[in-house]
Amino acid sequence: MNSIKRVMVGWMLLMLCGLAQAETLQISSLDLMKVQQGWGHPQPNRSVSGNPLTIAGTQYEHGLGTHTDSVLWIDCHGTAQRFTAQVGVDDEVGDNVGTMVFTVVADGQERYNSGILKTGDQACDVDVDLADVEILILLVASGVDGMNYDHADWALAQIEYQGEAPVALDGPKEEAIILTPPPPTTPRINGAKVFGVRPGSPVLYTIAATGERPMTFVAEHLPEGLQLDAETGQLRGSVKIPDTYLITLQATNAKGMDRCVMRLEVGDTLALTPPMGWNSWNCWGCAVDEEKIRQAAQAMVSSGLINHGWSYINIDDCWMRKPDEQARDAEGNILTNARFPDMKQLTDDIHAMGLKVGTYISPGPTTCQGYEGSYQHELQDAMQFAAWGFDYLKYDWCGYSQVEKGREKDALTKPYLLMKQCLDQMDRDIVYSLCQYGMGDVWTWGLEVGGNCWRTTGDITDTWGSMSSIGFSQDQCSPYAQPGHWNDPDMLVVGQVGWGPNLHPTRLTPNEQYTHISLWCLLSSPLLIGCDLTKLDDFTLNLLTNDEVLALNQDPFGQQAKRVHALGLTEVWSKKMADGSLAVGLFNRGEFEQEVTASWEVLGLSGPARVRDCWQQQDVGILDQTLTRKVPRHGVFLVRIFPQG
Ligand code: GLA
Repeated sequence: MNSIKRVMVGWMLLMLCGLAQAETLQISSLDLMKVQQGWGHPQPNRSVSGNPLTIAGTQYEHGLGTHTDSVLWIDCHGTAQRFTAQVGVDDEVGDNVGTMVFTVVADGQERYNSGILKTGDQACDVDVDLADVEILILLVASGVDGMNYDHADWALAQIEYQGEAPVALDGPKEEAIILTPPPPTTPRINGAKVFGVRPGSPVLYTIAATGERPMTFVAEHLPEGLQLDAETGQLRGSVKIPDTYLITLQATNAKGMDRCVMRLEVGDTLALTPPMGWNSWNCWGCAVDEEKIRQAAQAMVSSGLINHGWSYINIDDCWMRKPDEQARDAEGNILTNARFPDMKQLTDDIHAMGLKVGTYISPGPTTCQGYEGSYQHELQDAMQFAAWGFDYLKYDWCGYSQVEKGREKDALTKPYLLMKQCLDQMDRDIVYSLCQYGMGDVWTWGLEVGGNCWRTTGDITDTWGSMSSIGFSQDQCSPYAQPGHWNDPDMLVVGQVGWGPNLHPTRLTPNEQYTHISLWCLLSSPLLIGCDLTKLDDFTLNLLTNDEVLALNQDPFGQQAKRVHALGLTEVWSKKMADGSLAVGLFNRGEFEQEVTASWEVLGLSGPARVRDCWQQQDVGILDQTLTRKVPRHGVFLVRIFPQG
């Protein structure tokens, strides 16, 4: 080709490009599997519950129906020109109030922020210039009231582009880095240093200690009725006289010795620190059976989790029969289904390992999965649970909706009070876990009905949207947490989860998992692992065995952290510990690394203080006035701050 021809071809190509029509891509045509959201599934051209997209009475023919917290990354290849949409809360939530904030982020810069929108608000127009933008992120965050009823619509959402069409992307996923050094080979006594039992109830307390085995245990000042097994570290027996007993525990191995004082409260309050254990639901769902429960218990011991204070093995839904399968015997006693041939043998075997066992049922005629509930058999079921040897009961509202439509306080408290009265008559201690998803602000009356913990939200799933919107909405419940009574933002979603029978690795990124565990510890939440314990990888095991992190959760003072500072998508949460130190989390809920600052003023500190990085178990230094740290996307910097002098 000679040079004139070359110039002419170039010129024609330029003309063609210039004349190329701008094309329009509806967001609903993207691969919506890439949307991460807090509840339900993303819906093309429909609301999250599958209705026509409708905001303040206006219906829209296309768009994306999602739910807070929602994140969608889009690769625009620099070919996009404009993003437009109408955003708001979908009318399908009726009179319920959902609140949310829509933001559009282009190459790291926030280009649109709706401010807080709530149910019934008119749709807001979004019109963002995307010239030269590579990465577009559509975000919907829950308002201050948590994620309930946050049905979010990106109505008529579309991108005008010229050239390569934009595509949905997975969010970035960083490398899984283990931050914590292994525990020393010398003995170290971990776990709760305060323990509550009722007079005369059977005691089972396993001294949680890391370090080389064999190890021998000694307990001094044991009250009458208790015996320690020097080899296993299991304290058993029962104590008749209500009192506070200070017991000195000692663990010795070839490398050294550790001692500490444990406070045994013989009285009427159980769960003086948040229960720590495992529950079958988030991994096995209804595919649970006796063998899986046994394997979980064995793995709790063989993985070493037991040495960090993990103690409950809880069976969730689906151990009973369905009402049409002769769910009770002639006397009305509840029967197990074929997957649980011998409940008593199972609990005996788990107790022998030094662990406790939990069960589940509904106050209604049926459970969430349609199995037999306790309705009109409450005392009989409590007696059966005690006879089987259970130590924990999750009492899940679900089927009770069939008999109670009201949602006023009397209606909500009634079934929980009834079961509490039944449990109180038993001659063993059964930790009482209320599960009714936060209805009627349960945290304001959970203690009144005798709950040791109460679920504050709907069910968690293993997405950033779900975990973060649940975790970061717990501020309102904070004042109600105290020893014996805990807010429960649902179970952990690290490791291999799946709600059965098929499992997958958690969809949370490594930093999101650090955030999850840090936040749940700061919140003094019950810690119930929801993954297959027989398939723990090193990263997951590390997340669950950092004793300095777990100590924040198991602190005897029993305070729940509060959000003391928020700036954009960064937050600082802090709680006071029994020794006067503070547990502080610097969180970044944003999509890019950001600096987060906790000032002494917001922490209520003055003067120099020693700051310790809890995940790395390393001192950061002596600081006064502020702690500032670059925190990665969806990540955390978790510290304990010890005021000096
Ligand atoms: C409800 C609870 C879950 C689980 C299931 C079992 O959804 O919130 O935690 O117990 O029921 O069916």
